[in-house]
Amino acid sequence: MTAPPGIRIETFHGEAAAPYLPALAKLRVEVFRDWPYLYDGNAASETSYLAALARSRDAGLVLAFDGAEPVGCATCAPMADENANVTAPFRAQGWDLGRFFYFGESVLRRSYRGRGIGVAFFAAREAHARAVSRADFAAFCAVIRPPEHPLRPADATPLDPFWRRRGFTPRPDLTCTMRWKQVDTAGEVENRLGFWLKSLSGAPLP
Ligand SMILES: CC(C)(COP(=O)(O)OP(=O)(O)OC[C@H]1O[C@@H](n2cnc3c(N)ncnc32)[C@H](O)[C@@H]1OP(=O)(O)O)[C@@H](O)C(=O)NCCC(=O)NCCS
Repeated sequence: MTAPPGIRIETFHGEAAAPYLPALAKLRVEVFRDWPYLYDGNAASETSYLAALARSRDAGLVLAFDGAEPVGCATCAPMADENANVTAPFRAQGWDLGRFFYFGESVLRRSYRGRGIGVAFFAAREAHARAVSRADFAAFCAVIRPPEHPLRPADATPLDPFWRRRGFTPRPDLTCTMRWKQVDTAGEVENRLGFWLKSLSGAPLP
């Protein structure tokens, strides 16, 4: 996989990812604390997410290493292995979950951004999905925040153009909910996330 100088990018398949799950949790907690996720997470709140990933035989964990240190990661797994809240909009449409590969988060330490690692994360996940499945489509979701949200930084840059350039199309008709405690809330709150789809096989998007 193409990586910028000094960075090694490696994909771990299924149970080979197990030793790196704590690194994934650490990076998720660090990176998702910022806008737009505002996730007030810790090792305990990551437990059930990591357990679900560990149960998925064909999940892929892509890691970016600077030397021995993981500085970013991205995940993917067959859609059928995802929690009911994620699969709900696809089931509601009556779609075969086997046609979809779900791309979880991409989280990269801030000082490593803008060097092509995020692009490599998408390429690595697409390669993994093609290697382990016959899925026609890649799908991921991103949190939806109102334009007037009080914690939106003045210089916030949406990732929408980045995702469009990776070949994904936003699908406002497909949304799901996830609960997490935010930095600005006392407890967990429900957040709405919107899906983006990309054809991996050339099949037209449903
Ligand atoms: C999403 C995220 C992983 C993107 O990572 P990134 O490494 O900064 O992204 P890249 O550097 O690969 O791409 C950014 C741009 O720089 C370009 N770029 C810069 N240097 C490059 C290089 N050496 N090689 C290839 N592309 C390069 C990319 O092409 C891209 O531009 P484009 O969209 O016009 O093609 C990162 O912003 C992040 O962790 N954000 C916070 C968490 C988040 O919101 N995640 C998404 C939801 S889960």
